[in-house]
Amino acid sequence: MTDSWATFGRDLHLEPVGQGLRSGLMEALRDAVRTGRLTPGTRLPSSRALAADLGVARNTVADAYAELVAEGWLTARQGSGTRVAQRSAPRRTGLAAARSAPVRAGAGHNLKPGSPDLSAFPRAAWLRAARKALTAAPDEAFGYGDPHGRVELRTVLAEYLARARGVYADPERIVICSGFAHGLTLLGRVLRQRRVREIAVESYHLDLHTSLLTEAGLRTPCLALDEHGSRTDEPAALRGAGAVLLTPAHQFPTGVPLHPDRRAAAVDWARSTGGLVLEDDYDGEFRYDRQPVGALQGLDPERVVYLGTASKSLAPGLRLGWMVLPRSLVGEVVAAKGVSDWMSGSPDQLTLAEFIASGAYDRHVRSMRLRYRRRRDQLVAALAERAPGIEVSGIAAGLHAVLELPPGAERSVVQAAAFQGLALDGLARYRHPDAPAGRDALVIGYGSPSESAWAGALDALCRVLP
Ligand SMILES: Cc1ncc(COP(=O)(O)O)c(C=O)c1O
Repeated sequence: MTDSWATFGRDLHLEPVGQGLRSGLMEALRDAVRTGRLTPGTRLPSSRALAADLGVARNTVADAYAELVAEGWLTARQGSGTRVAQRSAPRRTGLAAARSAPVRAGAGHNLKPGSPDLSAFPRAAWLRAARKALTAAPDEAFGYGDPHGRVELRTVLAEYLARARGVYADPERIVICSGFAHGLTLLGRVLRQRRVREIAVESYHLDLHTSLLTEAGLRTPCLALDEHGSRTDEPAALRGAGAVLLTPAHQFPTGVPLHPDRRAAAVDWARSTGGLVLEDDYDGEFRYDRQPVGALQGLDPERVVYLGTASKSLAPGLRLGWMVLPRSLVGEVVAAKGVSDWMSGSPDQLTLAEFIASGAYDRHVRSMRLRYRRRRDQLVAALAERAPGIEVSGIAAGLHAVLELPPGAERSVVQAAAFQGLALDGLARYRHPDAPAGRDALVIGYGSPSESAWAGALDALCRVLP
């Protein structure tokens, strides 16, 4: 895979269907236009970029585009690229219509998961977007604001999430929040008001998230986890739960993607019980060896709440996140947000809207994907050379990896690392209190160090490994 794959172009989530690459690709594109996921005027990636993303020959994509232009689904104009044709307006039939602990860097090195490389924040591009957005902003944008979130941001997010993450989104069902944690807090409150008592969680997870649900008065039983992800196919474990919180694209922290059968089982469970799936898509954009796994929400937008965040793709300090809600939940979530006192400021929302609309977000994500993929490859290579007994897993995506340790070694390795100024997390730290004791392992956040600190952090890690 060449470096240009990661930096060039725009993301588009597509799953070619049926037999034959070209016809499968054409059908996937027709379907995305037909269902309104790709709206008229949406610019598609160049044939070169999409071919690289899908791992197919460029001619396959170019031929598919050309045929769809001939059929009237797409238009191609020199200088403005290939776009969804205006006359193939989204017929919102079918799916769309029917379902009208922060990481603190200590002295030394930090390889705890949870943070992107903060030194890579795109300051210049963000400032350009802020200048443009604030110059154009109407006076009312500096008022108290609508708890729903700025319509400018909701509009570009709907296009971006549909295009890049396979989400069924329209601006009306998006609510802007102060990161995932805020979104989860609001959902916990709303579900409690709906008399939900339990939200099932994964047996390994971020304890901050269960604490937020507990504070909302909810119990948080856990689902078992194996090499295919969380056991959403065990209905007994979900009995009594009104919702289940999952990280389907890249389980946090073990890194397993949820198996397609388990994705289907989660949605089936929600449909048959009236429950909800809360999809935490915290790092879904970072997948290295093939196209990102699409959002689970695309399977049933009325039963899955999609939660996204700028915390991994840009920076957690922005406190910007978004929820794509079932229609029936929008009013209650907006009402819950209206009475709370934490909201994302309009200037930042407008800046993010401009940042996405200008293409700077796609460029940043693609260049960071390249950086993190390189670090992941360096981590794997360093382990093979300097700690060949250590197995590494969960590396197809995200900003962290799991390193298996000999039984009983986890605590002493974490302590030895701390003694040498290297901040690390063991896997046990993420285990649900009711989950059975598991393997000994480290969760290594290779995204966290700055570029200049990375080589030293990797070296320090190799030195503390048994
Ligand atoms: C599993 C998981 N979900 C969500 C988030 C993002 O949270 P927030 O948007 O509140 O910063 C993180 C960040 O570390 C995470 O690890």
